[in-house]
Amino acid sequence: MAAMDRIRNIVILTGAGISAESGIDTFRGGGGLWEQHRVEDVATPEAFARDPELVLRFYDMRREAIQTKQPNPAHFALARLDAEWPGELLIVTQNVDDLHERAGAKRVLHMHGEHLNAWCTWCDVRSSWRGPLLNRPPCPACGARALRPDVVWFGEMPYRMDEIYAALRGCDMFVSIGTSGAVYPAAGFVRDARELGARTLELNLEHSEGSAWFDESRLGPAGELVPAWVAEMLL
Ligand code: APR
Repeated sequence: MAAMDRIRNIVILTGAGISAESGIDTFRGGGGLWEQHRVEDVATPEAFARDPELVLRFYDMRREAIQTKQPNPAHFALARLDAEWPGELLIVTQNVDDLHERAGAKRVLHMHGEHLNAWCTWCDVRSSWRGPLLNRPPCPACGARALRPDVVWFGEMPYRMDEIYAALRGCDMFVSIGTSGAVYPAAGFVRDARELGARTLELNLEHSEGSAWFDESRLGPAGELVPAWVAEMLL
């Protein structure tokens, strides 16, 4: 395990918990999204084939909602670390909101896609998208009415996994923020990083399913824990 003063390359995994204090629902736990909607109804390719209107309405609602939310101190702290950290740094987010970028972070990778993109299943082009998809608007690139949310559904492969594993192989420190550790492959990153000799730290409201794999777990709201951790790293 790398000594703190030897930390040069950092991979940070974020989940829904980092956006909770911005008023965006998390998925699991009391009042979470998956309590309000069945995953099988709104977040699988089969659901989209079976009832596209239900799925498109669900994501139209989410896309509209995130545009009314603001980044919180945890997002701003990571943006500061991104700007000032001299070594390699990658923020791998499971989130489909744009709050990391709106806080100013640049080195961000969305492994589960982005609400503010539409993906054409005819020409495979992804377009920046802020409005509804329920009315089946034409694809800006090819004109086909074949747009879907650019979100990775259950049973689909997350994006840019090669880049993520390359960053994990090169990191000295792996930090997980606001994720339950319930969904793979993201939930397995801590084990990969640890087995490759990285120091591992969890910042979460409660212990996650993967807590045992972390050298250290700090429990509390991200809006407090993340700025404190970033201040430590930039000392
Ligand atoms: N600060 C820190 N952690 C928080 C906060 C907070 N303010 N609020 C909640 N949490 C923690 C919860 O304790 C929980 O462990 O964030 C975690 C959120 O877990 P989930 O709701 O399961 O979300 P996430 O881990 O991001 O889900 C993973 O599952 O549904 C799919 O594709 C979706 O990307 C998502 C993936």
